[in-house]
Formats: sequence, structure tokens, C-alpha cells
Amino acid sequence: MRKLLHLFENNKKWAAKTSESDPNFFLRLSKQQSPQYLWIGCADSRVPANQIVDLLPGEIFVHRNIANVVVHTDLNCLSVIQYAVEVLKIEHIIVCGHYGCGGIKAALESKEHGLIDNWLRHIKDVYRFHQKKIDALENETDRFRLLCELNVVEQVANVCHTTIVQNAWKAGRELAVHGWVYGLEDGIIKDLDVCITGPDEISAIHRMK
Ligand code: CO
Repeated sequence: MRKLLHLFENNKKWAAKTSESDPNFFLRLSKQQSPQYLWIGCADSRVPANQIVDLLPGEIFVHRNIANVVVHTDLNCLSVIQYAVEVLKIEHIIVCGHYGCGGIKAALESKEHGLIDNWLRHIKDVYRFHQKKIDALENETDRFRLLCELNVVEQVANVCHTTIVQNAWKAGRELAVHGWVYGLEDGIIKDLDVCITGPDEISAIHRMK
């Protein structure tokens, strides 16, 4: 109960296997990380960032929370973005949602869930912004899928509205913010083609001079 021995066993085997294929792997990584991507994804156990884009430790900087939400005042997420952009000099931020997201589903309901309702309300806002478009769909599954996508689009915008991203652009840095959605049923990522690469592509009210 107090020791999860099987996980330590797994870990030993994994470390041995990794060292076998690349003897300097851990030594090299222990000295520095230089990932090229920041991943902002859902905490769902079925959407592990490294595995689904087949990247090794050290290759992707990751922040995950329920329903991949980027809240303007979330110091946790903002600190991750700041470190990724200003210290690691990452050039690509990926917001990756997924179909079948429990957080999005819960936000579509009017049931009370406790503390998490305060988090899910941000997704209800996304629904409210696009209510006409979502309600126009007859099928409930389609409405659910569309909100999963629109939530990603909204969070991509939220990333771009941060002073962190805008200051990077102001300094002439190359920085692209991508919006993707992952399918639990087939393991395939779809690019929502909402990539933003500069201040001209965000709404004027959010653009800082
Ligand atoms: Co989810």
C-alpha cells in the first residue's frame, strides 16, 4: 500500500532500456533541456503529450490541466508559458484538446460538480460565445465535438493575448501558437488550422502597443 513497487520495477526497466539504446541519454539530459515545443493539453490520462507525438524526454515542455484551458489569471499556466518562451526560447506552442473530453462534457451539463465548476465555467463561456453555431447542430455528439474544437481555438487566442507572447513578438521573435485536437478513438491528431504567428492576427482589443 505504501510502496508502489510495480511502478519502481517499471521505472528500472525503462531506465535500463533507454540507457542501452543511448548510453549518454540521461547524462546529456541532466545537463540541460532544450525542447522545441510547449504543449498545453488536457490532464486526461489517455492524452499523454510525449507518446502521441512520439517524442523523447527532453523534447517537449508540457503543461496539462482539465480541458486544456488557458485562464488569464492562472499563475501556474502563465509561469509555464513564460519559462518556455523566455528561458527555453520555444518557437511553437501547441494547444491540444481532444474529442470526448470529460471536462467539456461536464461544462455542457447543468449538473453541479463541486470545486471544478469554477474551472468549467471558462468552457461555458466558450459555449456562450459560439452558442448559435453550436446549437445549430442537431446531433448532440456533433455539438460536443464542435465545443472541443472551439475551446482549443479560444485557448490559442488566450495564449496569444498574454503579455509573454506579445512581448516575444515585439522583440522580433519567431513564435507560433497552434491549435490541435486529438481523437481518442483512432489516436490521430487533427490540425485545426488556427495557427497564430503575430499580433496582426489577434483581435484589436487584445493587441498591446
Ligand atoms: Co479532456
